[in-house]
Amino acid sequence: MAKINCIGILTSGGDAPGMNAAIRAVTRSAIYNGLEVKGIMRGYRGLIYDEIEPFKTNSVSNIIQQGGTILKTARSKEFQTAEGRQIAYEALQREGIDALVVIGGDGSLTGARIFAQEFNYPIVGLPGTIDNDLQGTDLTIGYDTALNTIMQAVDKIRDTASSHERLFFIEVMGRECGFLALNGAIASGAEAAIIPEMMLQQDQLADLISNGFRKSKNSSLVLVTEGDITGGAMAMAERVKIEYPQYDVRVTILGHVQRGGSPTANDRILASRMGAAAIDALLDGQRNVMIGIQNDEIVYVPFSKAIKKNKPVQQDLLNTLKVLSI
Ligand code: F6P
Repeated sequence: MAKINCIGILTSGGDAPGMNAAIRAVTRSAIYNGLEVKGIMRGYRGLIYDEIEPFKTNSVSNIIQQGGTILKTARSKEFQTAEGRQIAYEALQREGIDALVVIGGDGSLTGARIFAQEFNYPIVGLPGTIDNDLQGTDLTIGYDTALNTIMQAVDKIRDTASSHERLFFIEVMGRECGFLALNGAIASGAEAAIIPEMMLQQDQLADLISNGFRKSKNSSLVLVTEGDITGGAMAMAERVKIEYPQYDVRVTILGHVQRGGSPTANDRILASRMGAAAIDALLDGQRNVMIGIQNDEIVYVPFSKAIKKNKPVQQDLLNTLKVLSI
């Protein structure tokens, strides 16, 4: 196995709070271990357009508390083509970069997996996404911060919901994954979460209404995962207006407010641990794995497993939400 002297680091896909803490940890840990570091701008795009710069210890000073990513990010269409990946590989050779650390979500790690296989190139991934939808890790970097943002927003909406005795559908991010909605609902004491994972099993909206979810309350808050599977908060509200006109319904779509902001202590610590673990993994000969965390222990998860769809939500969370919303 070729010796690693220089690593490249990039962030790709949607930004997530804690990505900067991860960049800092990867950079400092690499330098601590005698490696050279290069920062690649705008995700895989930076490899194709040669936007690569040397990183020193102070390149990552004062960023642990910042949301977003100092490396910028993109969803590169070119990298999805064989020609694009060939150009990227040539850039890595030219720059003397022997291995990559890729911070991103399932799209970014899918790209990493393909590239690693095509060129037999060492890559370690870090799970950076607010969606918490990667398999083999209990948590992803950014998820905890987004959850706290959702909780604070719902706390505020509750004031209006209860003053006006309204039913609110609050749409949160997560693509096909209901973690943000489900845990956001538990954390904010909402009545229910409508999530993709439950969509096929039951008509969650009809269940809520038929259980008389407003009987003992003067207001209700329901978190809904965005996307085609649930149809989103607007679709829920439209249905209620037609089928249950007695309710005074409103919709709030939280949108990109969920992606920004200073990372929580938990996200900073997770990102720092995972960033350091990425360098340990590369030096240890690990290839093409994502760093995960399970039961508070760092684990290595093969890319093929990490990017599998349909990460299961815990049944006890669903039960807890149901029991606590009576
Ligand atoms: O994957 C993170 C995420 O925020 C999803 O929850 C959301 O569906 C998507 O990215 C939005 O992407 P964009 O910022 O490109 O609109």
